[in-house]
Amino acid sequence: MFVVGSGARHLEDEIKALGGEVLDAEIKRFPDGEKYVRIMGSSKDVTVVQSTFAPQDEHLIELILMADALRERGVQKLRAVVPYLAYSRQDRVTKDGEPVSVRAVMRTLAVYYDELYVLDLHNPETLRFFPGKAVNLSPARAIAEYFGEKLGEGVVLAPDKGALMRAKAVAERLGLEYSHFHKVRISPTEVQMKPVDVDVRGKNVLIVDDIISTGGTMIRAANLLRDMGAEKVFVAATHGVFAEGAIEKVSNAVDELAVTNTIPTPVSKISVVPEILKL
Ligand code: R5P
Repeated sequence: MFVVGSGARHLEDEIKALGGEVLDAEIKRFPDGEKYVRIMGSSKDVTVVQSTFAPQDEHLIELILMADALRERGVQKLRAVVPYLAYSRQDRVTKDGEPVSVRAVMRTLAVYYDELYVLDLHNPETLRFFPGKAVNLSPARAIAEYFGEKLGEGVVLAPDKGALMRAKAVAERLGLEYSHFHKVRISPTEVQMKPVDVDVRGKNVLIVDDIISTGGTMIRAANLLRDMGAEKVFVAATHGVFAEGAIEKVSNAVDELAVTNTIPTPVSKISVVPEILKL
């Protein structure tokens, strides 16, 4: 039995179409701006699906209120499926006085939820902050399926070493070569990239990352690949956290841009709902 929050409404039809049963939930706002949640019906075991893209804090509060409502109704086992987990990039203290925000979010969710499932967490090691069962689902199957034919005998690349496991997971499904760029971040908006160690001349290339924000990383990588003689350049990411104008900028720099539907955007062409329903 599923409950779908307002951050996952865009997934509801597909969840139902693939056989998921969804309890009705009323979610609205009090005149002072606070959230109101009411869930109709119940079950012993409930999975709440809520992606926590912007407005992140509002979606997080809903996730907590839905859980409280369900516990109040006597639900025994509660799972949170959070396709995009807000604050996941704030995974360490960089200046004195800062929180480890992803830890704070996971500990808060653990007050209510027995299990947590996320999609392609920025730093999978941070799942250890959730004391119950915590699972990082991979979008690799869905991305490989979407781009497989277009890529042909191409290459799959990660924009940096840290994302290599993402490129590897997609490439291995397609039986293709994979590698990564060397990326140095100079400021939040400026990155410097060095060429990869594979020959991309005349080949189609898919660049895979977890997040696209400003698009700077992908655009630099795509331009570099063009200079290196790549044929078609495709870009895929799990989470399209697009800053203003980023979709257009990336789309203009590549042959195709596609992200998954952990966040609803005009280029969320790859569905992760089958991954969610396998739980
Ligand atoms: C960084 O470590 C992430 O994995 C992404 O590479 C980054 O968030 C992309 O940001 P942008 O699109 O602004 O270059």
